[in-house]
Amino acid sequence: MRSLLEIGGRRAPFLRRSALRLALAARRMSREGRVDDGREEALLDFVRKHAALGDVDATIEAIDRFCYERAVMMNVGDEKGLILDRAVARARTQSALELGTYCGYSALRIIRAAGATAHLCSIERSPANAAIARAIIDHAGRSEQVTVLEGSLEDRGATISRLQVECGLAPGCLDFLFIDHDKAAYVSDLERILQLGWLRRGAIVLADNVRVPGAPAYRSYMRAREGMQFATIERRAHLEYQTLIRDLMLESEYLGEREGPRSGD
Ligand SMILES: C[S@@+](CC[C@H](N)C(=O)[O-])C[C@H]1O[C@@H](n2cnc3c(N)ncnc32)[C@H](O)[C@@H]1O
Repeated sequence: MRSLLEIGGRRAPFLRRSALRLALAARRMSREGRVDDGREEALLDFVRKHAALGDVDATIEAIDRFCYERAVMMNVGDEKGLILDRAVARARTQSALELGTYCGYSALRIIRAAGATAHLCSIERSPANAAIARAIIDHAGRSEQVTVLEGSLEDRGATISRLQVECGLAPGCLDFLFIDHDKAAYVSDLERILQLGWLRRGAIVLADNVRVPGAPAYRSYMRAREGMQFATIERRAHLEYQTLIRDLMLESEYLGEREGPRSGD
C-alpha cells in the first residue's frame, strides 16, 4: 500500500522532507541533474530488488512505487506518463529522441509504447545519471532498443555527431521528440534539431514541465508558430507524484517548413 501524505484527498507525498528538497531546487536540478543525496543509487537497488529481470512493466511500476514510498524524483511520473504514452502512439513512433534521460523512466515508457521494432536515443548531460539509466534500462531488458549518450546538444557538435553516427539520425528520420532537460534550453535545442531537419512532417514534439519549473519562452515560441510550423495541444496535468501542484505538457505536431516567398511572388 502506498504511504502517501494526503491533503483533502489529494496525493501530496512532496510534503516529505526529501520531496521538499526536490521542489525547492527543481529548476537547478533539472539543469544539473542530481539531488546528490543518494536517491538515484537507491532507486537502482530498489528496482533490482523489486522488479523481475527483463520485465519492463515491473521496472516502470517499481520506479513509481519508489517515488511514492521512498523519495520523490524528477521522472515524468505515472500521470504525465500516460500523456507521454499516448503521444508516442499518436506519432506511430519507430525512431525517437529524448533530451534528458535522468534515470531512464521516461525512456522505458517511450520504448514500451513504441513497440519492439522501435529505437530511442536519449541524451543525458550527467555521466552518473547516464550510468544509472543504462543499468535500469538493461534490467528492464530494453538496452538493445535504447541508446543513452552522455552529452548535450550544446557541446559544439560532439553529441550531434554521435547521434548521427551511433543512432543514425538523419533528415526526416524522427517520429517523436521528448524535451525534458534544462528548461532554458528547450527553444535553442529544438531550433538545433529543426536546423538539422531530423523531424519528419507529422512528428510529435512533447515538452514536459512547461508550467513547473516552467518554460515560458517555449510556450511563447509554440504559440507564435501555431498553425504554421506546429499545431500544439496544451495537456494539463500535475507535477510528478502528487495532485496539488499543476503542470503542463505541450504536445506539438510538426507541420513542416513553409516555403518562403520567392522573388517575383
Ligand atoms: C527532469 S530530468 C529528466 C527526467 C526523465 N526524462 C524522466 O522523465 O524519466 C532532467 C535531466 O536532464 C539532464 N540535463 C539537463 N540539461 C541537459 C542538457 N542540456 N542536455 C542533456 N541533458 C540535460 C539532467 O542531468 C537531468 O538528468
